[in-house]
Amino acid sequence: MAKILVVTSGKGGVGKTTTSAAIGTGLALRGHKTVIVDFDVGLRNLDLIMGCERRVVYDFVNVVNGEANLQQALIKDKRLENLYVLAASQTRDKDALTVEGVEKVLMALKEDFEFVVCDSPAGIEKGAHLAMYFADEAIVVTNPEVSSVRDSDRMLGLLASKSRRAEKGEEPIKEHLLLTRYNPQRVSDGEMLGVEDVKDILAVTLLGVIPESQAVLKASNSGVPVILDDQSDAGQAYSDAVDRLLGKTVEHRFLDVTKKGFFERLFGGR
Ligand SMILES: Nc1ncnc2c1ncn2[C@@H]1O[C@H](COP(=O)(O)OP(=O)(O)O)[C@@H](O)[C@H]1O
Ligand SMILES: [Mg+2]
Repeated sequence: MAKILVVTSGKGGVGKTTTSAAIGTGLALRGHKTVIVDFDVGLRNLDLIMGCERRVVYDFVNVVNGEANLQQALIKDKRLENLYVLAASQTRDKDALTVEGVEKVLMALKEDFEFVVCDSPAGIEKGAHLAMYFADEAIVVTNPEVSSVRDSDRMLGLLASKSRRAEKGEEPIKEHLLLTRYNPQRVSDGEMLGVEDVKDILAVTLLGVIPESQAVLKASNSGVPVILDDQSDAGQAYSDAVDRLLGKTVEHRFLDVTKKGFFERLFGGR
């Protein structure tokens, strides 16, 4: 049975698109046919992070409007056999997506894919609502800051009350917390909330903790999802998160301040 997974948050700029690209790619790496759908009309970030921006001819809105069919709009990843991207429209207005239009496209994707990963726009407005409305599971991306945690809490409330599952009285959306841009040094200096603080406030199962990492910027600049950089801390943390999403028990890493060894101090490490 195909699963619709939304990557959402209250606040913008927390790492949703980075996460959508990494998780989607990780699922495909493990053999699951996956499509990542960009709901951020007007911004079109996902295709850049996936490195397929030059191949976008038709987008999500074109399919909703019947100007192209799914086969024409789906962009096949050049690295992985079973990974596809449906890009957001860059030029259309934000109202181009409707509940009916989104439903039509998502139900068609469910026929063909095991996982449909929806990259949500920021905020709690229409775009974010459409991205989460049909979800079976949600990854709530949160930074270890009070404002981000508060906005995530609001999003959890919406998932539990405004989704289709909620409206139909079905089993609720399965919620996962993903803490990103985690900096153990700043946590130990008291500048950021720690994992336990965030877990206590949100009371949602922790899918993963992604460290603040130079590797993320490097990866997005080169159009390679960071999970493919298996030498990087962020890539490894995303990899663990994908395993947990698929039901494996994996211990959390990168939570504590690492004392740099002599050679690392000498030559620099990441
Ligand atoms: N783990 C991380 N370490 C460092 N920078 C990160 C990390 N995750 C995301 N970023 C950066 O944060 C910014 C926002 O990320 P993005 O995924 O576009 O967020 P959103 O989709 O929520 O707006 C980008 O510049 C991205 O490179
Ligand atoms: Mg984004």
